[in-house]
Amino acid sequence: MITPPNALPLLPGETHLFYGQQQQWEFGAALAHALPAGSVLFLEGELGAGKTTLTQGLVGALGFTEPVTSPTYALMNAYPTPAGRVLHVDAYRTRHPAELYEMDLEDLIAGSRLSVIEWGEALYADYPDAPIVRLLHVDGEPDVRRVERVR
Ligand SMILES: Nc1ncnc2c1ncn2[C@@H]1O[C@H](COP(=O)(O)OP(=O)(O)O)[C@@H](O)[C@H]1O
Ligand SMILES: [Mg+2]
Repeated sequence: MITPPNALPLLPGETHLFYGQQQQWEFGAALAHALPAGSVLFLEGELGAGKTTLTQGLVGALGFTEPVTSPTYALMNAYPTPAGRVLHVDAYRTRHPAELYEMDLEDLIAGSRLSVIEWGEALYADYPDAPIVRLLHVDGEPDVRRVERVR
């Protein structure tokens, strides 16, 4: 099988189990290298599913060494990595895409190395090429997460 360079670690519809946060960081790092500049990555998953952990791996892989936290109270964090800005958006409380576009999200995304958007369903149709990754807890396995590439 021929694998293109920088192939995403999961194909649409594929699922994988990650054991511990280290593997989640490594998955985030692989995504960072696979996604070209200006890309959007959509993340889904309840509290504690590992969205921030994955994003830490992704941002860290681009050379950013300061703490990466959840954007829940900020709506958006921006990390100036040596490879370019990474946006981390939490769209959970934004009910209408218009609210996101009012903050010039399109331009911010276009000017960023990568944009990680949590709970961004309202934008899925506008960014049809952006992968959607869903993170799930595994019953009885506190350190395991199921990761599913929805699109
Ligand atoms: N396989 C794993 N993947 C991701 N997080 C894990 C895993 N195993 C344990 N954890 C822990 O679960 C928590 C996930 O939290 P976090 O990444 O903040 O989730 P979210 O941002 O989705 O709320 C962290 O404390 C992390 O260390
Ligand atoms: Mg979080």
